[in-house]
Amino acid sequence: MRYAAITGWGMAVPERVLTNADLERMVETSDDWIVSRTGIKERRIVGPNDSTTSLATAAARQALDRAGLAADQIDLIVVATCTPDQFLVSQACLIQAELGGTAGAFDLGAACAGFVYALSTASQFVRGGCYDRVLVIGVDTLTRFVDYTDRTTCILFGDGAGAVVLEPTDEPRGLLSTVLGADGAGHKHLYIPGWGAFVPESAEIFPEYRPYLQMNGNEVFRFAVRVMGDAAAEAVDRAGLAFGDIDMLIPHQANLRIIDAAARRLDLPREKVWVNVDRYGNTSAASIPIALHEAEAAGELHEGNNLALVAFGGGLAWAAGVVRWGTAGVCRDPECRRLPLPNGAG
Ligand code: ACO
Repeated sequence: MRYAAITGWGMAVPERVLTNADLERMVETSDDWIVSRTGIKERRIVGPNDSTTSLATAAARQALDRAGLAADQIDLIVVATCTPDQFLVSQACLIQAELGGTAGAFDLGAACAGFVYALSTASQFVRGGCYDRVLVIGVDTLTRFVDYTDRTTCILFGDGAGAVVLEPTDEPRGLLSTVLGADGAGHKHLYIPGWGAFVPESAEIFPEYRPYLQMNGNEVFRFAVRVMGDAAAEAVDRAGLAFGDIDMLIPHQANLRIIDAAARRLDLPREKVWVNVDRYGNTSAASIPIALHEAEAAGELHEGNNLALVAFGGGLAWAAGVVRWGTAGVCRDPECRRLPLPNGAG
């Protein structure tokens, strides 16, 4: 059986740090309120010279270096984002213009659940034998759409990018199970009005029109607590594993209380949960690949470890999966990396 191992990983965040103390000077809030309700202490936000493209390209270069691959050896680029620099062309093509190569390139949108959706999509291309080397990127610059006079949203978001490279192996590595879901009726709880093909003609027709992220925080919170635990539990089950087999939970980093609820559902102690929401806030599609990168850099991920990934976001959408970490069985021979492997071969 053919699997899609993660052979490279990388991350990038902007240099500019926005602390809770900074926010205290901008809106009526307090460090104490933000930390107790969300767990966030600071976040990175884009400056004038940062872009979705620049962050994603930096993360992708790291992932390619780690895998020992050049951009022109990549067959496909899949980018999860809800904040592309342009709507025409795709964000994936803008990144490829920086990286080089002629791989197929497309975007996929599932807001904060986007990276797990993209990882699942990309894994199908590798596991099915269609492609051998796929670059998967999760990137968002949501702070460009945040109203910094709205204390209910401006405390939550940060910017960043994370990337992984997938390659074939006949050992069970990479994504072993997938759970994807969405409740489109909940689209009204988290959205950015405008910025699409449909633009309201006048404020009279759409009096609530504002070009900033709009969120019903309580609704999203309730939804997130419910689906994060359920989706992660289903992913573990679909992988044929028990909760006790999970070495690390890598959840979407939106709110520490939501993360804790998911960990309780899987019966996992805090030391088996990767948490960096305190330093980055909610980086949307970048959140899980950034967490993966940091967990590996901290020496917490080992060959054969089972990782439960779970995310939720605008849509309302959710996604979960179990990843078996490591590169066992991946052929590093230059010949393997030039020629397509026969379907089903390691
Ligand atoms: N500082 C101080 N007080 C605040 C702030 C703030 N920044 N924001 C809200 N408050 C006030 C409210 O006005 C309210 O006051 P009131 O009781 O006088 O009306 C009070 O604090 C409680 O507000 P709640 O909204 O009930 O607070 P809650 O505990 O639900 O926390 C939060 C709000 C943090 C937004 C929470 O609901 C949440 O995390 N929701 C999920 C949001 C999320 O993760 N969104 C991202 C989805 S991913 C994507 O796709 C982009």
